[in-house]
Amino acid sequence: MISLNLLFIGDIVGKGGRRAVASLGAEIRKKENCSFCIANAENIAGGAGITAKCLDGISPGVADVVTGGDHVWDQKGFDKEIVSLANVIRPANSSSLQPGRGFSIYNNPASGELAVISLLGRVFMKTESNCPFETVQGILAKIPKTVKSIFVDFHAEATSEKAAMAHFLDGKVTAVFGTHTHVQTSDARILPGGTAFISDVGMVGADDSILGRDKNAVIKKFLTGMPQKLEVVDEGIRFDAAIVSYNPENGKALKIKSVSLMSEYSNVPP
Ligand SMILES: [Fe+2]
Ligand SMILES: [Fe+2]
Repeated sequence: MISLNLLFIGDIVGKGGRRAVASLGAEIRKKENCSFCIANAENIAGGAGITAKCLDGISPGVADVVTGGDHVWDQKGFDKEIVSLANVIRPANSSSLQPGRGFSIYNNPASGELAVISLLGRVFMKTESNCPFETVQGILAKIPKTVKSIFVDFHAEATSEKAAMAHFLDGKVTAVFGTHTHVQTSDARILPGGTAFISDVGMVGADDSILGRDKNAVIKKFLTGMPQKLEVVDEGIRFDAAIVSYNPENGKALKIKSVSLMSEYSNVPP
């Protein structure tokens, strides 16, 4: 039986996140023998949104594909750039009038093809979107039967919605990776039907921060209820990811492990 490894990197936050992915991400990908890598990049440009320039050296480079989220359109002009970026997937259950694609099929250099789908949750999320369950059902019907390995980034806040999606897709996809909270959960597991699942992969962002942003500014925002400039912290980066081993012949997951490391930019010993 063939077994392949896929690396999924949690929300990359700003410049510090990009540096950590370029160094540590590349190292982990090699060390863990991952033939494919997906990363959530919705915060890659200054903490909010994506630009083609920010993907330089990250994807392609470390990540073969990057996924979006509720912040995908935060950078002006990305609606134009995304059209020519085949490696970028934005949420599939957003309006069909949005540019870009919500899922795509890629060649895995190690074996065959795989599909990547991006979906947005609707519980406690401000972004307007269609039902992610109905959307993913429609996408699965469109993916050719020859594509056995399917990976879903479910970008959502509520663990209940993420677990419901994972069980809904159990046996139909290879893995469901939760993203968006920037905090890694300790529930990585294989569901009974052979789908790997983790509620949230976490982030590549500053450890001594609140979700990658200046902790004092965030605290002040909570205390005062007034708008604050929430600067992205670019040092002391933690690197959160998950690695799935799967059988490309039937698309079933064999193993999932979460990874959470401090990068070399940290003062904390690894
Ligand atoms: Fe995020
Ligand atoms: Fe998000």
